[in-house]
Amino acid sequence: MRLHVADHPLVAHKLTTLRDEATDSPTFRRLADELVTLLAYEATRDVRVEPASIRTPVASTTGVRLAAPKPLVVPILRAGLGMLDGMVRLLPTAEVGFLGMIRDESTLQASTYATRLPEDLSGRQCFVLDPMLATGGTLVAAVRFLLERGADDITAICLLAAPEGVQVLRDAVEADGTGSRVSVVTAAVDERLNELGYIVPGLGDAGDRLYG
Ligand code: PRP
Repeated sequence: MRLHVADHPLVAHKLTTLRDEATDSPTFRRLADELVTLLAYEATRDVRVEPASIRTPVASTTGVRLAAPKPLVVPILRAGLGMLDGMVRLLPTAEVGFLGMIRDESTLQASTYATRLPEDLSGRQCFVLDPMLATGGTLVAAVRFLLERGADDITAICLLAAPEGVQVLRDAVEADGTGSRVSVVTAAVDERLNELGYIVPGLGDAGDRLYG
């Protein structure tokens, strides 16, 4: 599994304000949106393209365009919805599907409560949006779900990750033999998880800060 931590002063600047408990919801939403666009730039480095012939006002030339089938963007409800606009700004022709997942705050187990995705994802490149990779339960379940539907390449974009969650996801995909098809792009890998399953220092509950 490939892990890419965006190392950029603008990413660090926006993340610092996101973390600040004094940042209000409207500002949090705007910054999350901007941060996703920066992370999406990194996450789409290997997006599939095909040659395209065009004519400029001066001459004929060859460039590229996104290859078919178009990429699928999957925000994980609820908090991942706050990342959707920032992602589709960069990939406006992507198809969007939805996965509703909730983490039980006492057992920390993730369960799926809604899906709206194409049945067959064979050959599709998928971009999963979830602000927090904490214990990893949610992302392991989401990645397995997409792989079972045939997705062959999955990149998860997370604002923040905990080392424990990264390891859980890595172990799960390596055990499944799908490690080479899964990547995570994040703005930072923090210190640890606390006893409540929150990322430390983290930014609190992303869903509540976006929509609470
Ligand atoms: C949060 C977060 C992730 C998940 C991460 O969602 O947005 O989806 O927890 O936790 P994990 O890595 O330990 O599984 P939550 O379940 O609070 O739902 P919400 O997005 O509706 O707030």
